[in-house]
Formats: sequence, structure tokens, C-alpha cells
Amino acid sequence: MLHADSFGLNKSVLDTIGNTPLVHLPLDTPAQTYAKLEYLNPGGSVKDRSAKFMIEHAEKSGELKPGGTIIDASSGNQGIAVAMIGAIKGYHVIITVSEKISSEKLKTIQAYGAKTVMCPTTSFLDDPKSYHSVAKRLHKETPGSIMPNQYYNPLNAQAHYHSMGPEIWKQTDGKITHFIAAAGTGGTISGTGRYLKEQNPDIQVVAVDSINSFRSTNGNPKPYTIDGMGVDFDSEVLDKSVIDEFIPVADEPSLAILKKIANSYGILAGLSSGSVAHAAQMYCKNLGHEALVVMIFGDSGRAYLSKNVF
Ligand SMILES: Cc1ncc(COP(=O)(O)O)c(C=O)c1O
Repeated sequence: MLHADSFGLNKSVLDTIGNTPLVHLPLDTPAQTYAKLEYLNPGGSVKDRSAKFMIEHAEKSGELKPGGTIIDASSGNQGIAVAMIGAIKGYHVIITVSEKISSEKLKTIQAYGAKTVMCPTTSFLDDPKSYHSVAKRLHKETPGSIMPNQYYNPLNAQAHYHSMGPEIWKQTDGKITHFIAAAGTGGTISGTGRYLKEQNPDIQVVAVDSINSFRSTNGNPKPYTIDGMGVDFDSEVLDKSVIDEFIPVADEPSLAILKKIANSYGILAGLSSGSVAHAAQMYCKNLGHEALVVMIFGDSGRAYLSKNVF
């Protein structure tokens, strides 16, 4: 029998998380612009990294024991990641989701064997009916359960500090000048941004937010289409000290650019990637050819085909 360790083979799907490709994606700018294709993670999104980190931390601390239950609230991708990792490691998984979730994401969570609980879409995360509040309640009621709690757990950002940050630094040979990512929980932008700034404080860290989010509207959020993205609450996961600029973007141009990217470059990216590409297009207009910009493409367009955005 082949031994995975001796041949550099993967022991399980868990070992294939991270090390995603960085691909040249030309925008209308002299700057060199690259997209990091997080949809090539095994669970299909950037959230594989943070879910794995948080779950393994709970195992190491003894909080999560064999046969235990993992409960979390998710706009979809964290739920998919937790469901996939729970399946590999043999845990029960319950994911609370909001009505905004695409049918593809919901069915993917269920396909991994997790239970889902549908909650109404609310403007505020602390609304007792929100998917976050329901997950907290279920966690309290379920013995032997843990809640990674991606919205408030600083380990979410630490995951990206240890994984995404070093990867980008290495892939660009330390030449990255600008880092652009969507902010939802803020884990990706904060953890990666902190790592990159520690290597070179001149690197500009740019967060992309929805124009209708809690943060963009000063606490008066309005509905928006892009899921996963949008700063809708205050939490220490979002580390504003490493973010140089927030760019608020509307739904329409975010969706419009997705089709062009798929048709011209074969990159079928998800909704928040459209927001990132649109924001990068605006931000990079006046940058020179010496700029090396890395954009995070958080998930795949395949998760949204039923929304007819392509
Ligand atoms: C597709 C996608 N893009 C961006 C984000 C935002 O990432 P973060 O929560 O790390 O800010 C998420 C979060 O769920 C996501 O699913």
C-alpha cells in the first residue's frame, strides 16, 4: 500500500486546502493585476481556510471532542467548509443560513450530510431571528457542541494571517504592492493584511464593502444582493488598523463585470469577486506598471448559476 507521507500524497481533502493559484487578470490599468482563485479550494471558497483553522483549534483546546457537534451561522461558504470538514472528521454539523442563500450553496451543505436551519434575512445580526442568533441559541441547547462563530472569533482572522498572507507573499516574491479583498466578517482582509503589512508596511490594504452595508450607511443598512460581503456589524475580527481604504460598491457593476471575466478569461467567479474586480478597476486606474495588485476571488460562479447573473 502507498503511504501518503512518503510520496507527498494527500492524506485527505483537508490537506488540499490553500495553495490556490494566483492568475494574471488584466484590468483597464497599467498595473499588474492578479486574482487569487480561492474557488479552487476543495470546498469551493476562501472559507475552507478559516473553518479548518477554527475547528482544529477547538480540537486542540479540548473543546471539540469525538462525536461532537459543530454549529455555525453562514451566508453559505463557511457552512460548506464546516460541513465538508465535519464529514471528514466525523462530527455532526448544523448550519443556520438566511433566506438570501443560493439553492446551490444550501444543497451543497446538505450534500455533505449537515443539517441546515433556514432563518429570515434580517438587517441586524443581533436580531433574535437572525441566523447568527439562532446558531447561538442552538449551541447553548446542544450538549457537546462548539460554535466557531466566524463573525466574532479572532481566530477567523488569524487563520488568514497564517495561511493566505504567507502564501501571497511567497507567490509574488515579496513584490506585492496592493492587496484588495471583500470584507464580510473581515477575517480575510484583516489577517492577510496584517501579515503583509508586517513584511512591508508600504503595502496598501483595500477592503471592498457593499454600498448598502451597516458600515457604509452608518448603521442604516439596506438590502443588497452580493452575499458573503458587506460589513454588517462591529466585531474585533475586522482590524481597521491594517486597512488603508474601504471601497463601497453597488450590486449592478459587481454583477456586470463577472460576465466579462468569465467570457474573456475563463474565470467563473462568484458575486463578491465581481465586487472586488469592479473596485480594483476603479482603484487601480491611476496606478503605474510597477504596481502589483492581488485581488481575492472568494468563490465560484457555479454557486450562483440559479441567480442568472451570467
Ligand atoms: C464569497 C465570499 N467572499 C468574501 C467573503 C468575505 O470574507 P470575510 O468573511 O473573511 O471578510 C465571504 C465570506 O463569507 C465569502 O463567502
